[in-house]
Amino acid sequence: MDSDFFHRPVLLHTAVDYLVTDPNGVYVDCNLGGGGHAKEILKRINANGLFVGLDADAQAIAFAEDTLSGYSNKIIRRVFSNQLDVVLLQEGLLPVHGVLFDLGISSFQVDSPKRGFSFQEEGPLDMRFDASQKLTAREVVNEYSPAELGRILREYGEEKHWKLIVRNIVNERTGAPIENTAQLAEIVSRAVPAKQLNKTLARVFQAIRIEVNGELERLKVSLE
Ligand SMILES: C[S@@+](CC[C@H](N)C(=O)[O-])C[C@H]1O[C@@H](n2cnc3c(N)ncnc32)[C@H](O)[C@@H]1O
Repeated sequence: MDSDFFHRPVLLHTAVDYLVTDPNGVYVDCNLGGGGHAKEILKRINANGLFVGLDADAQAIAFAEDTLSGYSNKIIRRVFSNQLDVVLLQEGLLPVHGVLFDLGISSFQVDSPKRGFSFQEEGPLDMRFDASQKLTAREVVNEYSPAELGRILREYGEEKHWKLIVRNIVNERTGAPIENTAQLAEIVSRAVPAKQLNKTLARVFQAIRIEVNGELERLKVSLE
């Protein structure tokens, strides 16, 4: 698999231009993904510099290990970014010269239906970056109260049709649990005009993913 297929990083050169100011420095990438930014960072540091890459997703870690196998001045860990301080303390690397966040999901995650991130293909309601975490999208969709679902759609999706979407979800799950992404997409489609559907689905799926992975709480801890 080539790295563009895995994920094409945004603002690759611009982001790394600002990040790497000292070729002897220690640089951290909190969202390693396919290693696109990582490779560019590693190209710009020398043998005295060090790269630290974190990702919660085992597939991302395996792919990045392979992509970056030609570089030895690196440390790669499969952890959520809120463990950043723990990793840096363990390795005795504080303070570092720069930290990069490229939040969200990689193309490979959206393109793997069985991960449950995509509203375009049927898959289980999963959406976990780390498959050992307990909370899945299935639990959020089927077990959260209407008030909690509403909060998630408003705060993490900025979705203005949230009331009707929540009502549809709750009505549907009263009969039997909602099991997959196609079912969820169909339920959402009943709440919005067809021409707004794709953007609404993107916001709803994003909101649930943010909740499943505790993304905002983890970001807050990472930034602190
Ligand atoms: C947009 S992609 C990063 C792409 C990467 N910059 C590249 O060049 O390929 C986001 C990645 O961050 C990971 N991720 C998202 N939130 C995370 C978190 N809080 N801690 C660790 N990894 C996270 C996802 O698993 C995904 O692989």
